[in-house]
Amino acid sequence: MKDNYGRVIDYMRLSVTDRCNLSCDYCSAGKSVSDTKTLPADDVLAIASAASKTGITKFKLTGGEPLVREDLPLIIKGIKSLPGVKSVTLTTNGVLLDKRCGELKESGIDLINVSIDTCDKDEYQSVTGSDMLGKVIDGISTCIRNGINVRINAVNRGSKTDAVSLARFADSLGVDLRFIELMPVGKAREMKGTLNIDIIKVLENEFGKASQTDDKGNGPARYFTFERLKIKVGFISALGEGFCGECNRLRVTSDGKLKPCLCFGDFIDLNDALGLEGHKREEELMKLIGKAVRSKPEKHSFNDPQSVTEMRGMDYIGG
Ligand code: GTP
Ligand code: 5AD
Repeated sequence: MKDNYGRVIDYMRLSVTDRCNLSCDYCSAGKSVSDTKTLPADDVLAIASAASKTGITKFKLTGGEPLVREDLPLIIKGIKSLPGVKSVTLTTNGVLLDKRCGELKESGIDLINVSIDTCDKDEYQSVTGSDMLGKVIDGISTCIRNGINVRINAVNRGSKTDAVSLARFADSLGVDLRFIELMPVGKAREMKGTLNIDIIKVLENEFGKASQTDDKGNGPARYFTFERLKIKVGFISALGEGFCGECNRLRVTSDGKLKPCLCFGDFIDLNDALGLEGHKREEELMKLIGKAVRSKPEKHSFNDPQSVTEMRGMDYIGG
């Protein structure tokens, strides 16, 4: 389906919970949706089914932390079985990855992004409030052994980001790494990150010239190689570059709010439609998804934090 700016919208980020087993210093806005409001798997699948009929072919499952949800494999399998679906991927903090990797493999997950903002144990503890780095690395290794495609996500947290160590660490694991510019959402409103252009300079100093690849992935990341790194390094530059001209996505929160854009607080509530039955339910959900596509703004305004109207945290929205 095309939006009012001619962009093809074929990617949906579905948050399956806003609960998280870490408490990263830039992420939460503090308030949690109660468990009773979290959509059951049936509702998540009804939304995915209606979305697939409006042209969504790629689904990303997010949280909070999606792996805290017991029935996640059921949701993955359900979405994978919908006609027209090309990929179902997951973004996780990786704490439960080692434990749940077998189920994820069995469910047919296509790719897993694992958030690791630093490979220094003490710094990891200070960012996340937990000492789980070793566990997360075990999870990545188990995924690799099981043939699951994994990438590492690192949010640029200003001078605290040690890009060289992270790149060396990802290279030693043989896992692609992406640097993400910190967006002023939730607690990150009060923080200042680093632009990717500066990270690229630091990496070039250490690993030689950067060359952009043709890899376009599923979305906003641009992928580069460096002369002395085996892996690809992706850059998600919401502030430095702006990529809204190629935006392909919608978001659904774990309590059933459909968001046309990450940056703004506007949403369409899917709960009344989810209360309907059978064909009517699907028809109404498709209508609301179409409405959200048509109401997508031309671009975000993260470079002017005062005009960011999304007041909830990333843990609620799902990134
Ligand atoms: P895949 O390539 O499909 O894995 O998608 P992705 O890179 O978008 O997924 P991931 O969940 O790993 O998100 C990485 C970062 O990109 C997070 O910080 C997201 O908030 C950010 N991001 C994802 N989509 C958008 C978008 O539409 N706009 C903006 N500004 N940021 C986005
Ligand atoms: N800016 C950019 N990325 C963020 N994430 C969480 N909060 C922010 C923010 N303010 C990242 C997580 C995860 C992905 C879903 O979003 O670290 O990798």
